[in-house]
Amino acid sequence: MTKTPDRTLRIGLAGLGNVGAGVYKNLLKNHALLRERTGADLVVTKIAVRDPKRKRDVEVPPAQLTTDWRELVDDPEIDVIVELIGGVDGAFELISAALRAGKAVVTGNKAVLAERGKALIELSERTNAPLYCEAAVAGGIPIIKAVKEALVGNRIESIHGIINGTSNYILTRMTRAGIAFPEALAEAQAKGYAEADPALDVNGWDAGHKAIILAWLSYGRWLRPEEVSVIGIEDISLEDVAFAGELGYEIKLLGVVRQEQATKRIEVRVAPALVPKAHILASVHGVFNAVTVRGDVVGETLFYGSGAGQDATSSAVIGDLADAAQNLANAVGTTGFVPHGEYGEALPLDETVSGYYLRLSVADKPGVLAQIASITGAAGIGILSVIQPEPEQPSEHVPLVLLLHDAKYGDVQHALRAILALAAVQENHTLLRVETLGQS
Ligand code: HSE
Repeated sequence: MTKTPDRTLRIGLAGLGNVGAGVYKNLLKNHALLRERTGADLVVTKIAVRDPKRKRDVEVPPAQLTTDWRELVDDPEIDVIVELIGGVDGAFELISAALRAGKAVVTGNKAVLAERGKALIELSERTNAPLYCEAAVAGGIPIIKAVKEALVGNRIESIHGIINGTSNYILTRMTRAGIAFPEALAEAQAKGYAEADPALDVNGWDAGHKAIILAWLSYGRWLRPEEVSVIGIEDISLEDVAFAGELGYEIKLLGVVRQEQATKRIEVRVAPALVPKAHILASVHGVFNAVTVRGDVVGETLFYGSGAGQDATSSAVIGDLADAAQNLANAVGTTGFVPHGEYGEALPLDETVSGYYLRLSVADKPGVLAQIASITGAAGIGILSVIQPEPEQPSEHVPLVLLLHDAKYGDVQHALRAILALAAVQENHTLLRVETLGQS
Protein backbone atom coordinates (compact mmCIF):
# COMPACT_ATOMS: atom_id res chain seq x y z
CA MET A 1 0.00 0.00 0.00
CA THR A 2 1.40 3.39 -0.93
CA LYS A 3 1.57 5.83 1.95
CA THR A 4 0.77 9.47 1.30
CA PRO A 5 3.74 11.60 2.23
CA ASP A 6 2.45 13.84 4.95
CA ARG A 7 5.58 14.89 6.76
CA THR A 8 9.28 15.54 6.46
CA LEU A 9 12.14 14.06 8.44
CA ARG A 10 14.77 16.80 8.58
CA ILE A 11 18.22 15.37 8.87
CA GLY A 12 21.37 17.06 10.15
CA LEU A 13 24.38 15.19 8.84
CA ALA A 14 27.56 15.49 10.90
CA GLY A 15 30.45 14.22 8.80
CA LEU A 16 30.62 14.04 5.02
CA GLY A 17 33.44 11.54 4.60
CA ASN A 18 33.15 8.21 2.82
CA VAL A 19 30.00 7.00 4.61
CA GLY A 20 28.44 10.47 5.00
CA ALA A 21 28.72 11.03 1.26
CA GLY A 22 27.12 7.62 0.71
CA VAL A 23 24.18 8.53 2.95
CA TYR A 24 23.68 11.82 1.12
CA LYS A 25 23.92 10.21 -2.32
CA ASN A 26 21.70 7.20 -1.57
CA LEU A 27 19.04 9.25 0.22
CA LEU A 28 18.68 11.23 -3.00
CA LYS A 29 18.82 8.12 -5.17
CA ASN A 30 16.03 6.32 -3.32
CA HIS A 31 14.14 9.36 -2.11
CA ALA A 32 10.86 8.46 -3.78
CA LEU A 33 11.09 4.85 -2.64
CA LEU A 34 11.70 5.90 0.95
CA ARG A 35 8.81 8.36 0.81
CA GLU A 36 6.53 5.61 -0.40
CA ARG A 37 7.69 3.20 2.28
CA THR A 38 7.83 5.51 5.29
CA GLY A 39 5.27 8.15 4.43
CA ALA A 40 7.92 10.80 5.00
CA ASP A 41 10.27 12.91 2.97
CA LEU A 42 13.79 12.19 4.21
CA VAL A 43 15.70 15.38 3.59
CA VAL A 44 19.21 16.41 4.58
CA THR A 45 18.91 20.06 5.56
CA LYS A 46 22.30 20.84 7.11
CA ILE A 47 25.73 19.24 7.01
CA ALA A 48 28.59 19.80 9.42
CA VAL A 49 32.06 19.28 7.93
CA ARG A 50 35.58 20.03 9.08
CA ASP A 51 36.70 21.57 5.80
CA PRO A 52 33.98 23.04 3.54
CA LYS A 53 36.48 23.49 0.69
CA ARG A 54 37.48 19.84 0.50
CA LYS A 55 36.74 18.15 -2.80
CA ARG A 56 34.12 15.42 -2.31
CA ASP A 57 32.49 12.78 -4.45
CA VAL A 58 29.03 14.28 -3.88
CA GLU A 59 27.89 17.78 -4.70
CA VAL A 60 26.06 19.55 -1.90
CA PRO A 61 24.65 23.06 -1.90
CA PRO A 62 27.32 25.21 -0.17
CA ALA A 63 24.59 26.94 1.85
CA GLN A 64 23.91 23.63 3.64
CA LEU A 65 27.45 23.38 4.96
CA THR A 66 28.64 24.52 8.35
CA THR A 67 31.83 23.85 10.24
CA ASP A 68 30.04 23.77 13.60
CA TRP A 69 27.92 20.73 14.46
CA ARG A 70 26.24 22.76 17.22
CA GLU A 71 24.29 24.54 14.49
CA LEU A 72 22.65 21.20 13.70
CA VAL A 73 21.86 20.42 17.33
CA ASP A 74 20.52 23.93 18.00
CA ASP A 75 18.34 24.00 14.88
CA PRO A 76 14.74 23.43 16.04
CA GLU A 77 13.79 22.34 12.53
CA ILE A 78 16.14 19.35 12.57
CA ASP A 79 14.57 16.09 13.78
CA VAL A 80 17.48 13.70 13.64
CA ILE A 81 21.25 13.98 13.74
CA VAL A 82 23.41 11.47 11.87
CA GLU A 83 26.78 11.25 13.60
CA LEU A 84 29.51 10.12 11.21
CA ILE A 85 32.45 12.13 12.49
CA GLY A 86 34.11 9.13 14.16
CA GLY A 87 36.41 9.19 17.19
CA VAL A 88 35.30 9.08 20.79
CA ASP A 89 35.36 12.37 22.71
CA GLY A 90 34.02 14.73 20.03
CA ALA A 91 31.39 12.21 18.95
CA PHE A 92 30.33 11.67 22.58
CA GLU A 93 29.87 15.41 23.01
CA LEU A 94 27.87 15.67 19.79
CA ILE A 95 25.59 12.69 20.47
CA SER A 96 24.99 13.78 24.07
CA ALA A 97 24.12 17.31 23.00
CA ALA A 98 21.72 16.01 20.35
CA LEU A 99 19.98 13.63 22.77
CA ARG A 100 19.71 16.39 25.38
CA ALA A 101 18.08 18.54 22.68
CA GLY A 102 15.51 15.74 22.28
CA LYS A 103 16.67 14.78 18.81
CA ALA A 104 16.92 11.23 17.55
CA VAL A 105 20.49 10.20 16.74
CA VAL A 106 21.75 7.73 14.16
CA THR A 107 25.39 6.75 14.54
CA GLY A 108 27.78 4.38 12.82
CA ASN A 109 30.42 4.97 15.48
CA LYS A 110 31.36 1.72 17.19
CA ALA A 111 34.25 3.26 19.12
CA VAL A 112 32.09 5.77 20.96
CA LEU A 113 29.45 3.13 21.74
CA ALA A 114 31.99 0.59 22.98
CA GLU A 115 33.71 3.13 25.20
CA ARG A 116 30.84 5.36 26.30
CA GLY A 117 27.72 3.40 25.31
CA LYS A 118 26.46 2.99 28.85
CA ALA A 119 26.28 6.75 29.44
CA LEU A 120 24.77 7.39 26.00
CA ILE A 121 22.03 4.79 26.42
CA GLU A 122 21.17 6.11 29.88
CA LEU A 123 20.94 9.60 28.43
CA SER A 124 18.80 8.34 25.55
CA GLU A 125 16.43 6.73 28.05
CA ARG A 126 16.30 9.84 30.23
CA THR A 127 15.57 12.18 27.34
CA ASN A 128 13.36 9.68 25.47
CA ALA A 129 15.36 10.50 22.35
CA PRO A 130 16.14 7.37 20.35
CA LEU A 131 19.70 6.34 19.53
CA TYR A 132 20.10 4.04 16.53
CA CYS A 133 23.34 2.29 15.56
CA GLU A 134 22.77 -0.33 12.85
CA ALA A 135 25.79 0.93 10.89
CA ALA A 136 28.13 0.43 13.85
CA VAL A 137 28.33 -3.37 13.48
CA ALA A 138 29.04 -5.35 10.32
CA GLY A 139 28.39 -2.57 7.79
CA GLY A 140 25.38 -3.38 5.65
CA ILE A 141 24.27 -6.50 7.57
CA PRO A 142 21.23 -5.73 9.73
CA ILE A 143 22.67 -7.62 12.68
CA ILE A 144 21.60 -5.13 15.37
CA LYS A 145 17.98 -5.40 14.31
CA ALA A 146 18.28 -9.15 14.04
CA VAL A 147 19.56 -9.57 17.59
CA LYS A 148 17.43 -6.83 19.10
CA GLU A 149 14.15 -7.55 17.35
CA ALA A 150 13.91 -10.70 15.29
CA LEU A 151 15.65 -12.89 17.89
CA VAL A 152 14.05 -11.25 20.91
CA GLY A 153 12.42 -14.56 21.86
CA ASN A 154 15.80 -16.22 22.35
CA ARG A 155 18.53 -16.34 24.93
CA ILE A 156 21.62 -15.69 22.88
CA GLU A 157 24.01 -18.57 23.48
CA SER A 158 26.85 -17.42 21.26
CA ILE A 159 27.85 -15.15 18.42
CA HIS A 160 30.80 -15.79 16.14
CA GLY A 161 31.56 -13.19 13.54
CA ILE A 162 33.87 -11.91 10.91
CA ILE A 163 33.13 -8.30 11.74
CA ASN A 164 35.95 -6.30 10.23
CA GLY A 165 35.84 -5.95 6.46
CA THR A 166 39.34 -4.53 6.12
CA SER A 167 41.09 -7.38 7.91
CA ASN A 168 38.99 -9.97 6.10
CA TYR A 169 39.95 -8.33 2.83
CA ILE A 170 43.64 -8.40 3.81
CA LEU A 171 43.53 -12.05 4.94
CA THR A 172 41.72 -13.02 1.75
CA ARG A 173 44.35 -11.35 -0.43
CA MET A 174 47.11 -13.04 1.57
CA THR A 175 45.38 -16.45 1.33
CA ARG A 176 44.25 -16.37 -2.27
CA ALA A 177 46.86 -14.25 -4.01
CA GLY A 178 49.86 -14.59 -1.71
CA ILE A 179 49.97 -10.78 -1.39
CA ALA A 180 51.89 -9.51 1.63
CA PHE A 181 50.16 -7.65 4.44
CA PRO A 182 51.22 -4.02 3.64
CA GLU A 183 50.11 -4.21 0.00
CA ALA A 184 46.79 -5.81 0.95
CA LEU A 185 46.16 -3.06 3.54
CA ALA A 186 46.90 -0.36 0.95
CA GLU A 187 44.29 -1.94 -1.36
CA ALA A 188 41.67 -2.00 1.43
CA GLN A 189 42.35 1.67 2.15
CA ALA A 190 42.02 2.58 -1.52
CA LYS A 191 38.63 0.84 -1.61
CA GLY A 192 37.36 2.90 1.34
CA TYR A 193 37.00 -0.03 3.75
CA ALA A 194 39.51 1.01 6.40
CA GLU A 195 38.95 3.41 9.26
CA ALA A 196 40.50 6.88 9.07
CA ASP A 197 43.13 5.34 11.34
CA PRO A 198 43.57 1.82 9.89
CA ALA A 199 45.42 0.77 13.06
CA LEU A 200 42.00 0.01 14.55
CA ASP A 201 41.23 -2.40 11.72
CA VAL A 202 44.47 -4.34 11.84
CA ASN A 203 44.98 -4.32 15.61
CA GLY A 204 41.55 -5.90 16.07
CA TRP A 205 39.96 -3.05 18.01
CA ASP A 206 37.41 -2.11 15.37
CA ALA A 207 36.10 -5.68 15.68
CA GLY A 208 36.57 -5.46 19.47
CA HIS A 209 34.27 -2.44 19.63
CA LYS A 210 31.65 -4.26 17.56
CA ALA A 211 31.90 -7.35 19.77
CA ILE A 212 31.32 -5.19 22.87
CA ILE A 213 28.15 -3.81 21.25
CA LEU A 214 26.94 -7.32 20.35
CA ALA A 215 27.62 -8.50 23.91
CA TRP A 216 25.61 -5.61 25.28
CA LEU A 217 22.70 -6.34 22.97
CA SER A 218 22.83 -10.01 23.90
CA TYR A 219 23.49 -9.85 27.63
CA GLY A 220 22.62 -6.32 28.69
CA ARG A 221 26.05 -5.54 30.07
CA TRP A 222 28.64 -3.13 28.70
CA LEU A 223 32.00 -4.83 29.04
CA ARG A 224 34.84 -2.39 29.54
CA PRO A 225 37.52 -2.55 26.82
CA GLU A 226 40.00 -3.88 29.41
CA GLU A 227 37.69 -6.86 30.04
CA VAL A 228 37.90 -7.88 26.39
CA SER A 229 40.83 -9.71 24.82
CA VAL A 230 41.73 -8.29 21.42
CA ILE A 231 44.48 -9.45 19.08
CA GLY A 232 44.78 -8.17 15.52
CA ILE A 233 46.15 -9.57 12.30
CA GLU A 234 49.42 -7.59 12.13
CA ASP A 235 51.57 -10.60 12.94
CA ILE A 236 49.93 -13.08 10.56
CA SER A 237 52.50 -14.20 8.03
CA LEU A 238 52.10 -15.84 4.64
CA GLU A 239 53.80 -18.86 6.21
CA ASP A 240 51.02 -19.23 8.82
CA VAL A 241 48.38 -18.80 6.12
CA ALA A 242 50.02 -21.63 4.15
CA PHE A 243 50.39 -23.98 7.15
CA ALA A 244 46.78 -23.35 8.16
CA GLY A 245 45.73 -24.24 4.61
CA GLU A 246 47.74 -27.46 4.70
CA LEU A 247 46.00 -28.43 7.93
CA GLY A 248 42.55 -27.81 6.39
CA TYR A 249 41.85 -24.37 7.86
CA GLU A 250 41.61 -20.74 6.84
CA ILE A 251 42.71 -17.88 9.10
CA LYS A 252 39.95 -15.39 9.94
CA LEU A 253 39.79 -12.50 12.37
CA LEU A 254 36.98 -13.83 14.53
CA GLY A 255 34.91 -12.08 17.17
CA VAL A 256 33.47 -14.40 19.81
CA VAL A 257 30.66 -13.41 22.17
CA ARG A 258 29.41 -16.16 24.40
CA GLN A 259 27.82 -16.80 27.75
CA GLU A 260 28.90 -19.64 30.00
CA GLN A 261 25.61 -21.31 30.83
CA ALA A 262 26.47 -22.43 34.38
CA THR A 263 27.97 -19.18 35.66
CA LYS A 264 26.43 -16.68 33.22
CA ARG A 265 29.91 -15.22 32.74
CA ILE A 266 30.37 -13.45 29.43
CA GLU A 267 33.26 -14.17 27.09
CA VAL A 268 34.13 -11.51 24.54
CA ARG A 269 37.28 -11.78 22.50
CA VAL A 270 38.65 -11.02 19.06
CA ALA A 271 41.63 -12.80 17.56
CA PRO A 272 42.83 -14.34 14.33
CA ALA A 273 41.70 -17.95 14.43
CA LEU A 274 41.88 -21.04 12.27
CA VAL A 275 38.41 -21.91 10.99
CA PRO A 276 37.82 -25.30 9.29
CA LYS A 277 37.58 -24.88 5.52
CA ALA A 278 34.33 -26.85 5.63
CA HIS A 279 32.67 -24.25 7.88
CA ILE A 280 30.67 -21.58 6.11
CA LEU A 281 32.64 -18.77 7.82
CA ALA A 282 35.79 -19.95 6.02
CA SER A 283 34.14 -19.14 2.71
CA VAL A 284 33.50 -15.50 3.64
CA HIS A 285 36.02 -13.52 1.63
CA GLY A 286 37.02 -9.99 0.74
CA VAL A 287 35.14 -7.18 2.42
CA PHE A 288 32.26 -9.49 3.32
CA ASN A 289 31.34 -10.02 6.95
CA ALA A 290 29.33 -12.89 8.38
CA VAL A 291 27.88 -13.37 11.82
CA THR A 292 26.48 -16.59 13.24
CA VAL A 293 24.08 -16.16 16.13
CA ARG A 294 23.00 -19.16 18.17
CA GLY A 295 19.78 -18.72 20.14
CA ASP A 296 18.20 -21.22 22.50
CA VAL A 297 14.99 -21.29 20.47
CA VAL A 298 16.08 -20.69 16.89
CA GLY A 299 19.37 -22.63 16.96
CA GLU A 300 22.08 -21.45 14.58
CA THR A 301 21.49 -18.49 12.25
CA LEU A 302 23.83 -16.82 9.78
CA PHE A 303 23.91 -13.24 8.54
CA TYR A 304 26.12 -12.32 5.59
CA GLY A 305 26.86 -9.17 3.61
CA SER A 306 29.25 -6.33 2.88
CA GLY A 307 30.90 -5.34 6.13
CA ALA A 308 32.37 -2.02 5.07
CA GLY A 309 32.32 0.52 2.28
CA GLN A 310 30.31 3.54 1.36
CA ASP A 311 27.12 2.03 -0.03
CA ALA A 312 26.78 -0.93 2.34
CA THR A 313 27.27 1.20 5.44
CA SER A 314 25.01 3.96 4.21
CA SER A 315 22.27 1.36 3.66
CA ALA A 316 22.38 0.65 7.41
CA VAL A 317 22.26 4.37 8.27
CA ILE A 318 19.30 4.89 5.93
CA GLY A 319 17.48 1.94 7.52
CA ASP A 320 17.81 3.69 10.87
CA LEU A 321 16.61 6.96 9.37
CA ALA A 322 13.52 5.19 8.06
CA ASP A 323 12.87 3.89 11.59
CA ALA A 324 13.35 7.39 12.96
CA ALA A 325 10.84 8.70 10.42
CA GLN A 326 8.26 6.11 11.41
CA ASN A 327 8.82 6.57 15.11
CA LEU A 328 8.36 10.32 14.78
CA ALA A 329 5.05 9.72 13.04
CA ASN A 330 3.83 7.15 15.53
CA ALA A 331 5.09 9.11 18.53
CA VAL A 332 6.64 5.94 19.88
CA GLY A 333 9.14 6.68 22.60
CA THR A 334 11.96 4.26 22.02
CA THR A 335 15.64 4.21 22.70
CA GLY A 336 16.05 1.90 19.75
CA PHE A 337 17.68 -0.59 22.12
CA VAL A 338 16.11 -3.46 23.98
CA PRO A 339 18.93 -5.48 25.53
CA HIS A 340 18.07 -9.04 26.31
CA GLY A 341 18.98 -8.31 29.91
CA GLU A 342 21.09 -11.27 31.06
CA TYR A 343 23.70 -9.78 33.30
CA GLY A 344 26.98 -11.54 33.97
CA GLU A 345 30.61 -10.87 34.82
CA ALA A 346 33.36 -11.03 32.21
CA LEU A 347 35.00 -14.45 31.85
CA PRO A 348 38.76 -14.06 32.49
CA LEU A 349 40.84 -14.69 29.38
CA ASP A 350 42.83 -17.51 31.01
CA GLU A 351 39.62 -19.50 31.47
CA THR A 352 38.50 -19.26 27.85
CA VAL A 353 38.68 -22.54 25.94
CA SER A 354 39.52 -23.28 22.30
CA GLY A 355 41.89 -25.35 20.20
CA TYR A 356 45.27 -23.87 19.23
CA TYR A 357 47.75 -23.67 16.38
CA LEU A 358 51.34 -23.34 17.58
CA ARG A 359 54.20 -22.68 15.17
CA LEU A 360 57.63 -23.03 16.70
CA SER A 361 61.13 -22.77 15.36
CA VAL A 362 63.12 -25.70 16.72
CA ALA A 363 66.58 -27.24 16.44
CA ASP A 364 66.57 -29.90 13.74
CA LYS A 365 67.61 -32.85 15.91
CA PRO A 366 65.99 -35.97 17.37
CA GLY A 367 64.01 -35.85 20.60
CA VAL A 368 62.73 -32.26 20.37
CA LEU A 369 59.16 -33.25 19.60
CA ALA A 370 59.22 -35.68 22.53
CA GLN A 371 60.35 -32.92 24.90
CA ILE A 372 57.53 -30.66 23.71
CA ALA A 373 54.97 -33.47 23.91
CA SER A 374 55.98 -34.24 27.46
CA ILE A 375 55.27 -30.61 28.47
CA THR A 376 51.86 -30.50 26.76
CA GLY A 377 51.07 -33.98 28.10
CA ALA A 378 51.89 -32.96 31.68
CA ALA A 379 49.59 -29.93 31.25
CA GLY A 380 46.78 -32.22 30.05
CA ILE A 381 46.79 -30.65 26.59
CA GLY A 382 46.41 -33.13 23.75
CA ILE A 383 48.23 -32.79 20.41
CA LEU A 384 45.88 -33.24 17.47
CA SER A 385 48.41 -33.10 14.63
CA VAL A 386 51.96 -32.11 13.81
CA ILE A 387 53.66 -30.84 10.66
CA GLN A 388 57.40 -30.65 10.36
CA PRO A 389 58.12 -29.77 6.75
CA GLU A 390 61.34 -30.94 5.15
CA PRO A 391 63.68 -27.93 5.10
CA GLU A 392 64.39 -26.77 1.55
CA GLN A 393 68.06 -26.29 2.46
CA PRO A 394 69.98 -27.64 5.44
CA SER A 395 69.20 -25.35 8.33
CA GLU A 396 69.89 -25.36 12.05
CA HIS A 397 66.30 -24.47 12.94
CA VAL A 398 63.14 -25.68 11.26
CA PRO A 399 59.45 -24.88 11.70
CA LEU A 400 57.37 -27.25 13.79
CA VAL A 401 53.60 -26.76 13.69
CA LEU A 402 51.32 -28.32 16.28
CA LEU A 403 47.53 -28.37 16.48
CA LEU A 404 46.39 -28.65 20.08
CA HIS A 405 43.07 -29.95 21.39
CA ASP A 406 40.65 -27.68 23.27
CA ALA A 407 42.31 -26.30 26.39
CA LYS A 408 42.14 -23.30 28.70
CA TYR A 409 44.13 -20.35 27.40
CA GLY A 410 45.91 -19.97 30.75
CA ASP A 411 47.08 -23.62 30.67
CA VAL A 412 48.34 -23.24 27.11
CA GLN A 413 50.24 -20.06 28.00
CA HIS A 414 51.82 -21.85 30.96
CA ALA A 415 52.89 -24.81 28.79
CA LEU A 416 54.14 -22.45 26.09
CA ARG A 417 56.45 -20.70 28.54
CA ALA A 418 57.98 -24.08 29.45
CA ILE A 419 58.32 -25.01 25.76
CA LEU A 420 60.04 -21.73 24.91
CA ALA A 421 62.47 -22.31 27.79
CA LEU A 422 63.76 -25.50 26.11
CA ALA A 423 67.25 -25.09 24.67
CA ALA A 424 66.12 -26.55 21.35
CA VAL A 425 63.24 -24.05 20.89
CA GLN A 426 63.70 -20.49 19.66
CA GLU A 427 61.79 -17.55 21.13
CA ASN A 428 59.94 -16.59 17.92
CA HIS A 429 56.63 -18.46 17.62
CA THR A 430 52.99 -18.01 16.60
CA LEU A 431 50.07 -19.08 18.78
CA LEU A 432 46.62 -18.83 17.22
CA ARG A 433 43.23 -20.08 18.29
CA VAL A 434 41.49 -22.89 16.41
CA GLU A 435 37.71 -22.48 16.43
CA THR A 436 36.04 -25.63 15.15
CA LEU A 437 32.54 -24.11 15.46
CA GLY A 438 30.99 -27.52 15.78
CA GLN A 439 33.08 -29.02 12.93
CA SER A 440 36.41 -30.74 13.09
N1 HSE B 1 36.76 -0.26 8.90
C1 HSE B 1 35.59 -1.01 9.15
C2 HSE B 1 35.79 -2.39 8.54
C3 HSE B 1 34.42 -0.31 8.52
O1 HSE B 1 36.72 -2.58 7.77
O2 HSE B 1 35.02 -3.30 8.86
C4 HSE B 1 33.08 -0.91 8.86
O3 HSE B 1 32.81 -0.86 10.22
